[in-house]
Amino acid sequence: MSLLKFNTFHWHLTEDQGWRFECETYPELNTKAAVRPRSDFGAENDPNPYGRVFTKEEMKDIVNYCAERYIDVIPEFDMPGHTSALLSVFPELSCRGEEVEIKTRQGIYKDVLCPAKDKTYEVVEKILDEFCEIFPYKYFHIGGDEAPTDRWEECPECNRVKTACGLKTWPEYQNYYMNTIIEYLDSKGKEAIVWNDAAKGANLDKRAILQYWKELPKNTVEYANSGGKIILSPFSYFYFDYYYEITSLRRVISYKPKFKGMTEAGYKNILGIEAPIWTEYINDKNTMQRYLFPRVIATAQLAWSDKGMSYEHFVDEMEYAEKLIRDKGVVFEDKKEWGYKRISTPHGWIRFSKENFLK
Ligand code: ACM
Ligand code: ZN
Repeated sequence: MSLLKFNTFHWHLTEDQGWRFECETYPELNTKAAVRPRSDFGAENDPNPYGRVFTKEEMKDIVNYCAERYIDVIPEFDMPGHTSALLSVFPELSCRGEEVEIKTRQGIYKDVLCPAKDKTYEVVEKILDEFCEIFPYKYFHIGGDEAPTDRWEECPECNRVKTACGLKTWPEYQNYYMNTIIEYLDSKGKEAIVWNDAAKGANLDKRAILQYWKELPKNTVEYANSGGKIILSPFSYFYFDYYYEITSLRRVISYKPKFKGMTEAGYKNILGIEAPIWTEYINDKNTMQRYLFPRVIATAQLAWSDKGMSYEHFVDEMEYAEKLIRDKGVVFEDKKEWGYKRISTPHGWIRFSKENFLK
């Protein structure tokens, strides 16, 4: 990362399928929420229990390792959605209060945190306090993506709070929750980052930084134009868990941050680019490295230069960069995979679906 001048490592530590942050206050998170009974990710079915938390010592070790390389670490505690693992230990934080299972498949799940319950804030804030002890940096990611509103809509307490607070829509109700957490983190000297799903509600606290991944730019553009900061991670360019046949190197290097309706001031509110890699379908380090390299080098090129670069020029430059990085023991994707002419091929999507969704 530091060789490529990446300065920030965003670490997604909580999910439906596993809790990864060692917690002293609530030890059941380490034993119960961390371990799913089996795994059903596409073609990879594993009947064995999987999971553990990163210990505080391990997380501190990573923070220190990154600090020596001038890389800040941003933890993510994803909420109010993607919280099945947390709810498996605290079902009383959901609207129904019924048992919630830790998930064994990828997906979006309806049981989410109930923003109308005091206990939700009590538990979440205690956990946030522990996160803040380990991660000293100013940014803190609180998720906010893919939170279905189904349970809130049928929850009497949620309806009461929504009406009492004069919130017109359920996305605004989600932001009532996000804003409470943003405020809490602010009181601890932290700036919150949220996925751009939260921009659907117009009341998101402008102190939050929006991470643009879902390519529904209108709300994000309005957010930037009116003074909010944004991070660019459009999934069809920078989600590197997709095959090269879907997101070719040619496509990545062609990226231009151009948004309909974005003002000059809006563009100035772009903080940078982030390339996420999710690992449901990636089971070993070599595969992860192939998915990253060389696309992640193109990301660094885009992030640090305001000039575009042609695909051909970039590939020429790779001759030197590839050797430098291979010498560090890092695996590169085969060159024949880099440059699909059609920057997103139907064949790529078909193979992706077959291998990951259809069994
Ligand atoms: C996301 O990919 N759900 C942020
Ligand atoms: Zn509720």
